[in-house]
Amino acid sequence: MYSKKVYEHFTKPHNQGMIKNPDGVGTVGNPVCGDLMKIYIKVKKEKKKEIIKEIKFETLGCAAAIATSSMVTDLAKGKTVEEALKIKRSDVAENLEGLPPAKLHCSNLAADALHAAVDDYNKKKK
Ligand code: FES
Repeated sequence: MYSKKVYEHFTKPHNQGMIKNPDGVGTVGNPVCGDLMKIYIKVKKEKKKEIIKEIKFETLGCAAAIATSSMVTDLAKGKTVEEALKIKRSDVAENLEGLPPAKLHCSNLAADALHAAVDDYNKKKK
């Protein structure tokens, strides 16, 4: 039912864990399945660009939720905060070579948690 990529990211997730003193944190939950995802970011300014230097996730959820968390952190790492906001829900699923239709909502969680972490960072820096 899952692609090879999903399986890889589920069994060996990248960037799992938490960051102490993060610059931004985003938490989102899915009220239907009860799954919870938290993304932490550390941002560094380089040549006037705000780069996501470190990113980690903690997810309580299904296999797809873990795999999409892992993928979204890979996609956002090294990007500017503006670029991270442009990562769409569909980008996460596409980079995992697709998700079963019933599991697409799990990838929404990942993009939403990333955006929430960036929003939190933007709010804090003001
Ligand atoms: Fe809830 Fe996947 S079933 S996020």
